[in-house]
Amino acid sequence: MSEIEIESKDLNLWYGTAQALKEITMAVPTKKVTAIIGPSGCGKSTFIRCINRMNDLIKDCRVTGELLFEGMNIYDRDVDVVTLRKKIGMVFQKPNPFPMSIYDNVAYGPRLHGVKEREELDRIVEVSLKAAALWDEVSEIPDRSALGLSGGQQQRLCIARTLAVEPNVVLFDEPCSALDPISTAKIEDLINNLKRDYTIVIVTHNMQQAARVSDYTAFFLLGEIIEFGKTKQIFEMPDKKSTEDYITGRFG
Ligand SMILES: Nc1ncnc2c1ncn2[C@@H]1O[C@H](COP(=O)(O)OP(=O)(O)OP(=O)(O)O)[C@@H](O)[C@H]1O
Ligand SMILES: [Mg+2]
Repeated sequence: MSEIEIESKDLNLWYGTAQALKEITMAVPTKKVTAIIGPSGCGKSTFIRCINRMNDLIKDCRVTGELLFEGMNIYDRDVDVVTLRKKIGMVFQKPNPFPMSIYDNVAYGPRLHGVKEREELDRIVEVSLKAAALWDEVSEIPDRSALGLSGGQQQRLCIARTLAVEPNVVLFDEPCSALDPISTAKIEDLINNLKRDYTIVIVTHNMQQAARVSDYTAFFLLGEIIEFGKTKQIFEMPDKKSTEDYITGRFG
């Protein structure tokens, strides 16, 4: 396997008394696309939210085990969550641009992290919009409200906003489920290009999408990881019957 960006070791998570993740052990390879699949409620979103500590916001959520990134445990007390989220960005199911201009959406993160010069911001905005395959559609209208863009454009804007702070990892939680097939194809192409520079984890309910975009796939069931491996192997020769049943649509 390639170099490892994130390593989860015996990760457990509880919401109150309900255990949502059980002893999750898996390694996320650097600059590859890792898909997480599994039926609704199996813990996919919970797991990727652990990676940038989005679960911190949830009351009564408790985590044990280790989640290693850059030689540290993400859940160590002295980890600075703002810096962590700069390095590990996230794109959600529903596009959630800020109610401000296209330009300001992308410049938001860099400004927050102290970039002030207009030239530097212009450069970052252009590079990020190009990387998100949106530049050609918005380069003439940077001052227009982001809320006036189509859903697919909004999602690519959210991707540009995430890339603008130069993360190492981008987490996608069902990024296409609110989009039409053409916008979905654009995002899939984009994800394919992004893995040159970023480590990507994508949660998806769409088996074809997982097979198309990912290098590695993890199958989750009831909070446990059932199987993890190269996508080709998981889809063509899964070790476990439950993986095969899920992939072939026999349940889930
Ligand atoms: N904020 C929360 N508080 C309490 N329980 C939660 C919370 N979020 C999720 N859960 C529970 O944790 C379990 C895993 O949920 P999670 O959202 O991670 O599943 P998922 O695999 O992403 O599902 P889906 O495919 O429907 O998005 C479920 O039983 C869910 O009800
Ligand atoms: Mg989910």
